[in-house]
Amino acid sequence: MIRVEIDPKSGLKASLRGDILIVIDVLRFSSCIITGLAVGVKQFIPVATLNEARQIQKKDRTYLLAGERRGLKPKDFHFGNSPIEYKKSNLKGKTVIISTTNGTKALDYCKKSKLLLIASFLNAYALSKYIANYVSSEDNISIILASQKDTIFLEDFICAGLLVSNISNMTQRQYLNDHAILAKLAWNNTEDDLEKIIHQGHHASYLESIGFEEDVKFCIKRDIYDIIPKVTGNSISKINVDKEI
Ligand code: MLT
Repeated sequence: MIRVEIDPKSGLKASLRGDILIVIDVLRFSSCIITGLAVGVKQFIPVATLNEARQIQKKDRTYLLAGERRGLKPKDFHFGNSPIEYKKSNLKGKTVIISTTNGTKALDYCKKSKLLLIASFLNAYALSKYIANYVSSEDNISIILASQKDTIFLEDFICAGLLVSNISNMTQRQYLNDHAILAKLAWNNTEDDLEKIIHQGHHASYLESIGFEEDVKFCIKRDIYDIIPKVTGNSISKINVDKEI
């Protein structure tokens, strides 16, 4: 079965049920993690609060601080929450402590799961293929949206639809919950006009209004990375697919 959960708190229930979990926060947490790992970040350490991030960094000054509040970089942090910023920086071998408004919170609800992955448009195909090749067909999949206070983010819901479509095509999982059916319908109806439709969403409009138009454009690109981020304990690193065989 494939479920789409629009409340991140459902991540806890899904973890306890034994599902494989995939967290989506297209704008921009997921896209930052995937891009960061693609440009050489060794690991991300996700934390709930900015102060927690600062405390960890005090113990090891080689660690970098990244994150946002209201979309903007905290003054004393090295990075905001911008994949474009990551692409322009030399992050090879670095550990980045990250705290964002919704993305890191959503991960927190999911951390009891036996396998926790992170997806966006940037890696949708690679991640779906990984599920098809390396995850037992007995395992149910729950796709958790990093939504906020009963508000679904349009881009996350559409990206969930793309994953549902990919995974149900590549595997035997044909049984979908209602949100998964809806998300797939949303994906089918936006596929040809993705950029235009996502720009209408409130978070894309907000990010553009504070100067992150380039980020929004980049995060909508499909399947440009074959990076599959996996959360292990309190660390996010990329799966080395060759070693999984
Ligand atoms: C979040 O985690 O809330 C987002 O990634 C916010 C943002 O766009 O920076």
